[in-house]
Amino acid sequence: MLKGEYGEGTQNAMELLVAIGEAFDAEKMIPVTRAHAASSGQEGDLYFVEMLARGGAFCKIPTTTNPIADFEYFQKVINIADEHEEASVAWKTKDYYRQIGAVMSWSCIPYLAENIPQFGEHVAFSESSATPYVNSVIGALTNRESIQTALAAGVIGETPEYGLHLKENRKGTVLVKVEANLKDGYSYSLLGQYVGKKVGYDIPVFVGIPKRPTIDQYINLCAMLNVTGAIPMFHILGVTVEAKTEQEAFAGNAPKDKITVTDHELRQTHEELQTATGAIDAVILGCPHYNLDQMAEVAKLLRGKKLRDGVSFWVNTSATTKLLAERAGHVSVIEESGAHVITDTCIDMFCWNNLREKTGMTDSPKCAYYRRFGPVKVGTVEECVAASVEKGE
Ligand code: F3S
Repeated sequence: MLKGEYGEGTQNAMELLVAIGEAFDAEKMIPVTRAHAASSGQEGDLYFVEMLARGGAFCKIPTTTNPIADFEYFQKVINIADEHEEASVAWKTKDYYRQIGAVMSWSCIPYLAENIPQFGEHVAFSESSATPYVNSVIGALTNRESIQTALAAGVIGETPEYGLHLKENRKGTVLVKVEANLKDGYSYSLLGQYVGKKVGYDIPVFVGIPKRPTIDQYINLCAMLNVTGAIPMFHILGVTVEAKTEQEAFAGNAPKDKITVTDHELRQTHEELQTATGAIDAVILGCPHYNLDQMAEVAKLLRGKKLRDGVSFWVNTSATTKLLAERAGHVSVIEESGAHVITDTCIDMFCWNNLREKTGMTDSPKCAYYRRFGPVKVGTVEECVAASVEKGE
């Protein structure tokens, strides 16, 4: 493959993986059985997938893709005529991913439906919530891949053996004592936001989390650990699959650092996220994409209510989840309030440019981090709904 005997695209993919392997002193390549490319539909993404596709490369293993943009939906509801240039980059990128045989999942939580690794499976997953989720919650083995290394692994079906593919690198290194009251999904986002910033590149072991987090709480924690930090894996003592005991979580080593998180740290983190005061113009939920439980929750909160004049309200999810939410009646309840359910779209895409000057609100610190709005408030989904609907409803 490296010599080009299987075509130029395959050669390019192999060259990248060999270079990464050499940089990390990997001794050999190992098979991976699935990949997730956090495709972004932006120039760097287009450059690499186009090079591989034009060189005749084709995915050897299931390789899912991140949300790009449902441009047609946006054209229907808002005027985005000025953004055609960015749309054309996104469109070309989508076409090359299709040509190369990737799965057009357009979801940033593929590990719940479209691409589910098993315990002990070696995979190559990029995307902020995806890498820590498959390592920590499922117990599959992946490094913190980039779009390009994940796609290259999808084409080759192998990856260099280094980092989290080796058992000895999966042990916890920092002890995080949780004394805060983790009462909802948003508090897990705050926990991830705070710990990611504090811990940086290490593997935290959480103690004191009283019960198993729900799926959306896990997703929020994973996403934020990998936004304010570069944390590809964590353990929750007594809960996650590779941390049944302290001995297993730390592999017998003493933690090199210890931190404590109380309600005070979470409150402070919440306050630091706020850059707006007063009334809001727009809400974005679903970064990471909402799962079915979250769709049910937002439908329950919006049932029988109407958005205030001038407020736009967007719920992002995957096509798979939307289908199930439609069948359950959640989508019609949400839409009756005046809100939109949008699939296949990332909040970091051109289609949201019209919100740049608006005062926004979101339940996602990651969405706030990507600055989709001017000033922003961040809070729970209940608070987002309460700030958007007509008074007295
Ligand atoms: Fe998903 Fe894009 Fe947010 S990939 S997590 S919607 S930044």
